[in-house]
Amino acid sequence: MCGIIGYVGPRPSQDILLAGLSRLEYRGYDSAGIAVIDGDGGLGMRKRAGKLAVLRDDLASTPLADGTTGIGHTRWATHGGPTDANAHPHLADDDKLAVIHNGIIENFAELKSELVGEGVTFRSETDTEVAAAMIGREYARTGDLVSAFRAVVSRLEGAYTLLAMHEDHPGLVVGARRNSPLVIGLGEGENFLGSDVAAFVEHTRKALAIGQDEIVAITPGGVEVTDFSGAPVEVEAFEVTWDASAAEKGGWSSFMAKEVSEEPEAVANTIRGRIHEGRVEIPELDGMDEFLADIDRILVIACGTAAYAGMVGKYALETWTRVPVDVELAHEFRYRDPVLSPRTLVVSISQSGETMDTLMAVKYARSRGAKTLSICNTQGATIPRESDAIVYTHAGPEVAVASTKAFVAQITALYLLALHVGRVRGAIDPVVAVEAVTELEAVPGKIARVLETEQARIEQLAHWMADTRSVLFLGRNVGYPIALEGALKLKELAYIHAEGFAAGELKHGPIALIEPGQPVFVVVPSPRGSGEMHKKVVSNIEEIRARGARVIAIAEEGDVAVLPAADEVLRIPLAAPMFEPLLAVVPLHIFAMGLAEAKGLDVDQPRNLAKSVTVE
Ligand code: M6R
Repeated sequence: MCGIIGYVGPRPSQDILLAGLSRLEYRGYDSAGIAVIDGDGGLGMRKRAGKLAVLRDDLASTPLADGTTGIGHTRWATHGGPTDANAHPHLADDDKLAVIHNGIIENFAELKSELVGEGVTFRSETDTEVAAAMIGREYARTGDLVSAFRAVVSRLEGAYTLLAMHEDHPGLVVGARRNSPLVIGLGEGENFLGSDVAAFVEHTRKALAIGQDEIVAITPGGVEVTDFSGAPVEVEAFEVTWDASAAEKGGWSSFMAKEVSEEPEAVANTIRGRIHEGRVEIPELDGMDEFLADIDRILVIACGTAAYAGMVGKYALETWTRVPVDVELAHEFRYRDPVLSPRTLVVSISQSGETMDTLMAVKYARSRGAKTLSICNTQGATIPRESDAIVYTHAGPEVAVASTKAFVAQITALYLLALHVGRVRGAIDPVVAVEAVTELEAVPGKIARVLETEQARIEQLAHWMADTRSVLFLGRNVGYPIALEGALKLKELAYIHAEGFAAGELKHGPIALIEPGQPVFVVVPSPRGSGEMHKKVVSNIEEIRARGARVIAIAEEGDVAVLPAADEVLRIPLAAPMFEPLLAVVPLHIFAMGLAEAKGLDVDQPRNLAKSVTVE
């Protein structure tokens, strides 16, 4: 969950490191630090608790001597609180070696007591300093940083990306990764390492993905990658498909505001190239028809918002493929004894592609003989590389911690997958498939309309509700996961109590929470068609209104039946029921953002969170 950058080349490194860290700050923002080898061959280091701005100000007032080799880190605390001492880099070998780390070294306590027994003293409470001391100890024996890494990594358990440099070797940064991300950026006479491509995309779009259990050494003129035993390995090259401006705020008040405004394009770009003459054909799934025709179960695994996308996707997958679908939180799935077979398709969903819980679940599913397909938004990330097949969402870089445009892109990808698999299996009537494609293609325009017509009103509503202490969300069928998503966003961003319920579940307990003035958002299904669910949800609204709830309904344009029952009605354009989630979620994203802003909170970097949860 920390962000890591390394640089070697001809340019002064401090600004490059700080700019890279500002793009990686979404991964953790409780402290930051850099180390550089200066022109005289000395190692300088500065680290500060707090957001990157604190470090930046510190360096501006008392600069480090600059140099052209450097590493930088932005932290999400695991071992030891967010203090200056626990911030990275950590030093060893008489402060000539600097080390940064992302992940958790699970056996750090026993390694630390071994080192303490040898007389090593520690300045922090971190597991990282233990790794630094071990690399320092090995380096002191051999004077070779790469072989020091090789000796140490074999003793570390858990998840880690480690980068190190030593003042004896200007122009060299060494890294290693296990269960934690690291990519290489290839420049002209300069090279980069980063937790993800955002670290260096401003300088180069040429990247190499480093595999599991590999060590990399970068110099200005080259890159060498070996496995943990020292054997050279082939690395996979890729071109980053977005440029630095896509990861800039570009005049918006926050990344989240920008990303919500990009929800229409996130859907449109995810559809692009996957519909041919009204049929969904996902090119990435070429060659899988035989397997997809034979699957007898689909299991969707994900965490947080991605899991809610999975819950929405279940409705489409079952309807259009007629294959039974289960959705499970990745961290729960892995620690039981699930029934899996070679005919099970395990679909993982992850914006970052690095969520440790999801990654471990994918590996576990594969080891148990299932085929894995990853729906992911980040090129070169670990989860897609550990999967049998990949369907990328094309939402573009998502920087704000709250997932918004990635969520609508994930649902879109799941719908495309359902239509693709349904066609391959002959399970969907071609006329129904064409209608679904037409509906899907209309979604971007409809989301844009919600933003255009409702955003200002929702922000106003959020402003009025700034003192609210609790909000409930109700939905039914495909609207149920949307209620869960609305509640998660509000907790995450505005730090207030929020719960999502299936509307039908209300009378089984949650209705006891309703007291006069309790705000309740209700995702109302369309009254068109049989209108059966609509009637039931309107009855649920009457039940809570009778107990004093203040109801804010999200209902389609022209639904007049909700008017007498609701205090406020937020409108979404008409869509077939399966596609309503993609529209109904937009007001809830705007509302959570608006309420957090009304409370003066940082919507991009909410407290205690990180964008990419790379610890279990
Ligand atoms: O990167 P992922 O999609 O795997 O992340 C999964 C969750 O951690 C993520 O969706 C989280 O719940 C969001 N912060 C919610 O807005």
